[in-house]
Amino acid sequence: MGSSEWSHRSDSFWSNDNVAETGCLSIIVLGASGDLAKKKTFPALFHLYCQGFLPPSEVHILGYARTKISDDELRNRIRGYLLGERSSSPSEDVSDFLKLVKYVSGSYDSAEGFQLLDKEIAMHEISKSSQEVSSRRLFYLALPPSVYPSVCRMIRKYCMNKSDLGGWTRVVVEKPFGKDLDSAELLSSQIGELFDEPQIYRIDHYLGKELVQNLLVLRFANRFFLPLWNCDNIDNVQIVFREEFRTEGRGGYFDEYGIIRDIIQNHLLQVFCLVAMEKPVSLKPEHIRDEKVKSLTTQIPQHLLLLSSVYTMKDGKAGKALNSRKAEIRVQFKDVPGEKQGRNEFVIRLQPSEAMYMKLTVKQPGLEMSTVQSELDLSYKQRYQGVTIPEAYERLILDTIRGDQQHFVRRDELKLTPYQRGSRGPTEADELSAKASYGQT
Ligand code: NDP
Ligand code: BG6
Repeated sequence: MGSSEWSHRSDSFWSNDNVAETGCLSIIVLGASGDLAKKKTFPALFHLYCQGFLPPSEVHILGYARTKISDDELRNRIRGYLLGERSSSPSEDVSDFLKLVKYVSGSYDSAEGFQLLDKEIAMHEISKSSQEVSSRRLFYLALPPSVYPSVCRMIRKYCMNKSDLGGWTRVVVEKPFGKDLDSAELLSSQIGELFDEPQIYRIDHYLGKELVQNLLVLRFANRFFLPLWNCDNIDNVQIVFREEFRTEGRGGYFDEYGIIRDIIQNHLLQVFCLVAMEKPVSLKPEHIRDEKVKSLTTQIPQHLLLLSSVYTMKDGKAGKALNSRKAEIRVQFKDVPGEKQGRNEFVIRLQPSEAMYMKLTVKQPGLEMSTVQSELDLSYKQRYQGVTIPEAYERLILDTIRGDQQHFVRRDELKLTPYQRGSRGPTEADELSAKASYGQT
């Protein structure tokens, strides 16, 4: 069934009932001088702008940080990152987008800075419309979590939406959400005292990746998988993450929060939940979260292999400084009773080059009757030529604007094993695979 048929179903399990809103939309990027803001947040906003999701008649974007720079200096810092790997947008789009971007300098705990920020937001709200309109204020905290509580306090006190005509104030927070259970709970309660849950968007950008988002559809919209996706048929699941990057300029962050909190307890655990959970009653965020929580509480002990498939080096870098970049989910089915042959395996490659393929046993072509392992292959570049797959951040920021919390969530447990820099990973990975009776196909 083609994807268009899904999107045309108005009242199905898959449909999304968000209503498009209008009114002034202010997007405030706090920590605008930092790494995430320039590499991910502003480029995502730019791509949304190019696709018409951020109409200049409604939208303005403010960067905020302590660094003292002018509007133009911020624009110059981010300009080179806007296009990313996509070169299709003309340079006029870049210039037009940058005209929407302004900068305010201030600290993360002073009334003065946030009063100034509020004044700037209000000024732009008025200038976007001659009459009073609803006001939507999205605060994106591209900041270390240590400053979330004070920033949230300042926003609550000085920068909330004040329009009588409606709108909202939403806060996007980045992972890691604390350093351990206690600090995570403290952080949650500090932010929870200031904002209601529907106003808080805890971002995990893996939940915005195309093939991660496809997991629910794949699992629950295909009769191929519905009766088979259980422990009677699946022998083991591996979630593999590796990248060539090192900590590259983010040493301070890694020193403070540690490498495990960077990838495992959030990105990979979220993927795990989507692989392991039961079908939710609907795609409503609360139903999905209910099922995720159930899978976390009931299935983690049986699925330790997942958490073990990403490791730390001697100097502590989970999945980093390896010989290639790859993130994939491998679902390996049990042996077919009878003659020994290769196992069926379903592989979902999140990156690079999004793909799904299924390894199966077929007859070796030719006169002889023998079997061979082959693949049914769905490579996105070939199958969906000309379709641009959105960046994870692009999709998640759009969800925030639309008030859809389906792809936003939380944190959990971890495990450490050292490996050598430049290697394909720790030898224990193979041992664990063998223990879980993974067979090379
Ligand atoms: P940065 O270290 O670049 O910090 C962002 C900005 O915050 C800095 O420009 C600085 O701005 C301010 N800042 C830095 N350290 C402190 C501090 N100790 N106290 C107060 N302000 C500080 O971080 P990133 O941009 O890399 O990350 C921001 C958030 O996003 C983090 O939570 C991170 O985990 C998360 N994240 C980052 C990713 C990335 O690729 N970078 C990917 C996914 C998530 P100024 O001094 O001007 O105020
Ligand atoms: C981020 C981590 O959350 O995810 C980085 O902070 C890591 O350390 C990155 O490199 C990986 O994301 P992606 O989308 O490149 O796989």
